[in-house]
Amino acid sequence: MVAPASPFTGVVALDGPSGTGKSTVARRLAAVLGARYLDTGAMYRAATVAVLRAGADPGDGAATTTVVEAARIEITTDPAHQSVLLDGDAVDTAIRSDETTAAVSAVSAVPSVRAMLVAAQRELIGDGGIVVEGRDIGSVVWPTARPKVFLTASPQARAERRAGELGADVTQVSGDIARRDGLDSSRAASPLVRTDDAIELDTTALDVDAVVERLVELVRESS
Ligand code: DC
Repeated sequence: MVAPASPFTGVVALDGPSGTGKSTVARRLAAVLGARYLDTGAMYRAATVAVLRAGADPGDGAATTTVVEAARIEITTDPAHQSVLLDGDAVDTAIRSDETTAAVSAVSAVPSVRAMLVAAQRELIGDGGIVVEGRDIGSVVWPTARPKVFLTASPQARAERRAGELGADVTQVSGDIARRDGLDSSRAASPLVRTDDAIELDTTALDVDAVVERLVELVRESS
């Protein structure tokens, strides 16, 4: 795979639901481009760990806001070394726990939590040279990102990928994905939507290399 010749200085937005392979291909794309990488989902997950550790109810917007306001979330943007700190404590394992996954949609639906995290994400994006993955990067966080890609995959392929990653049962994962999709797409604040100018890339029949190759082409075409 041949990377564009000059260093990448733009912002690539990769949005889409879970199980589409976003994280893997976003990290790989960043490495190929020599760019930074930002996993915004990890920030919502760290905010959720803060809420759970504080014993607050993830569904209580005011309590959640108070906790997240006081939390210090730090995240690396090196595609080769991902790490998330909450108040100085590494939470890389805690952000992937079942408990966190079950509560993250409620926390990420709170508008004031989103406002805080979107501001932090914009600061991290700064002068660009970064691949950013999430749900609202092309729609809210960085609408001028190019290319703006919306990844999709069939429900069966998404469930199988997630189950493979987690070593879990496909039927159970499929139910979890459907529940989170419903919550993420129906929330009032920045729901998961594909903007009109986003390029949809269906990864159902593509392996990681093929997706990354297509993304590199899209970066080249948009620069
Ligand atoms: O990508 P992920 O599964 O790690 O994301 C965790 C949750 O965070 C997901 O349920 C939706 C939410 N999220 C969001 O609302 N906005 C983002 N930009 C990224 C993630």
